[in-house]
Amino acid sequence: MTKYNIALLPGDGIGPEVVDATVKVMDALQKKTDIEFEYKTYMIGDAEKKRSGTALPQATIDGVKEADACLFACVGETAKETILPLRQMFNLYANLRPAKAYPGVPAVRPETDIMMVRENTEGIYKMIGHRSPRSAFNVRVITWEASERIVRYAFEWAKKNGKKKVTAIHKSNVLDYTDGLFLEASRSVAAEYPEMEYNELIVDAASMWLVMYPESFEVVVTTNMFGDILSDVTAGLVGGLGMAPSGNVGDDMCIFEPVHGSAPDIAGKGIANPAACMLSAAMMLEWLGENKAAKLIEDAVLKVLKEGKTLTPDLKGKATTVEFAEAVAKAL
Ligand code: NAI
Ligand code: MG
Repeated sequence: MTKYNIALLPGDGIGPEVVDATVKVMDALQKKTDIEFEYKTYMIGDAEKKRSGTALPQATIDGVKEADACLFACVGETAKETILPLRQMFNLYANLRPAKAYPGVPAVRPETDIMMVRENTEGIYKMIGHRSPRSAFNVRVITWEASERIVRYAFEWAKKNGKKKVTAIHKSNVLDYTDGLFLEASRSVAAEYPEMEYNELIVDAASMWLVMYPESFEVVVTTNMFGDILSDVTAGLVGGLGMAPSGNVGDDMCIFEPVHGSAPDIAGKGIANPAACMLSAAMMLEWLGENKAAKLIEDAVLKVLKEGKTLTPDLKGKATTVEFAEAVAKAL
């Protein structure tokens, strides 16, 4: 019996709904395997800020630190006071954002199977800047160390997962200082992997290529904001944000989270698609080394999607979040 302490950070909007649904599936998994979860839930986000004055209480930071792994759902307007500082304070430098089109999902591009590896600690999200009444700036910070580290992560992930191609996305033709450095670091790492195909695309053209020819991408590596934006593009290719899981990964800590935000337009209606959160939990299990358990969750989600009888409205179905969760738990 292996026991894991899991920190749950449901946050705002649809967050508690998708986390509850995911816990249902993890509970079902406990019955199938010799894995046991001990959950601890922590406060984070807009509602917590309203209640206590801070969106990221110290108890939450401590809880994330102490846990074996952490599952965060989403917050509203306080993203820059919560998940951004958590990524930076715990050096969760790799943001893994896979976009996979599952059978049964009305995906715009069913041929999509891309792993986006986004640098997660610097770039323009460093939150260094200044605001005057009529002018403002944000500083974009790119370092050799972080660039090299993220590109190496992308190549190692590709190698480990049987992929043959890594694409670096940048804007070095205009952002010559920062992306010039990123690209130089990227090329130096790529040279260490002669067996792997390596190519580069400028971010604007890359956006078009991703939409028109997603099958030409395997692993994508890019800087923080480009990765943020492009991973919503790739989510759009595979059925939307309800289908997009992710992980924030460091050398010995992690926070897994669906890519989506708090979705205020559907919050409280019980119709959010929890698949993104469940697939994030599967990624978390893989990170913990529980590959078989991770696969069980992914396969159960896949089975329900493929059957097509219990899909949430974003996937053109009529099921509720709870009904989807029950179907996945049953499939397990
Ligand atoms: P969003 O991701 O919350 O929603 C975009 C659209 O996708 C909405 O129409 C929503 O209904 C739909 N959607 C998202 N997740 C879904 C799911 N699981 N099932 C079905 N439909 C889903 O992005 P939006 O509307 O731009 O932002 C809303 C709030 O979320 C903002 O306050 C923003 O700051 C915050 N946000 C937080 C993030 C985080 O916590 N990491 C990430 C992105 C946004
Ligand atoms: Mg985003």
